[in-house]
Amino acid sequence: MAARTVAVVLAGGVGERMGAGRPKQLLEVGGRPMLAHAIAAFDAHPGIAEVLVVMAAGHLREAGVIAAPFRSVTGVVEGGATRTASTVAALRVLDGHPDDARVLFHDAARPFVDAPVIDRVLAALDGHEAVAVGVPSPDTIVVVEDGVVASMPPRETMSRFQTPQGFRLGTIRKAYELALADPALRATDDCGIVHRYLPDVPIRVVEGSERNLKVTQPLDAVVAEHLATEDPS
Ligand code: CTP
Ligand code: MG
Repeated sequence: MAARTVAVVLAGGVGERMGAGRPKQLLEVGGRPMLAHAIAAFDAHPGIAEVLVVMAAGHLREAGVIAAPFRSVTGVVEGGATRTASTVAALRVLDGHPDDARVLFHDAARPFVDAPVIDRVLAALDGHEAVAVGVPSPDTIVVVEDGVVASMPPRETMSRFQTPQGFRLGTIRKAYELALADPALRATDDCGIVHRYLPDVPIRVVEGSERNLKVTQPLDAVVAEHLATEDPS
């Protein structure tokens, strides 16, 4: 039997850069909250057995109402002060799951994740313990130190990371165990934790989608509304 797959929808942030006065994942695009779009994508996917929502403190009731119609949601739990702490909160809930279970972490602020992207992550998890989603960078990315270009990595080797990021549960658990024991732990994404603390684990990168944008600031909400209207999902 294939290992159980859990999708964790991370909605523990407060959306400071969006400046809406409430968490951005509660804002509507195309007539429903971003959080509902993100949950719906995983709920509808046949490869996902369970969805766990991690919500910002003080907004659990609202998240519960949004999550209620989705049959695969097994819990709405409170997140932490950082994204890392919110991931750790989810891992605690998943304590009872076996090491070979698969877990996908997704930003609730990416409402347009779709089945093909989820398919690619799940397929890659058959052969890898860690999987990321990336899209090519249209811009040249440079490393700037003290206001001066320190290096210019070739553009074709650059990838912009999106979510979901997928892992064997045992692998991401081990990586966080090491990370939490490190007083110098710096917040990064979940693949960053694996890359830093389990450097021998290859992180497979699969193709993301330009539609799978993260709504971070007000301009992104304008783009998101346009995308939602163009193809309501
Ligand atoms: N996130 C989380 N817990 C946190 C911080 C962030 O679960 N303590 C989630 C956010 O809800 C979002 C995703 O991680 O879905 C990506 O984070 P980001 O875009 O930075 O969202 P916010 O932290 O809410 O925004 P800001 O940094 O502008 O405050
Ligand atoms: Mg943030």
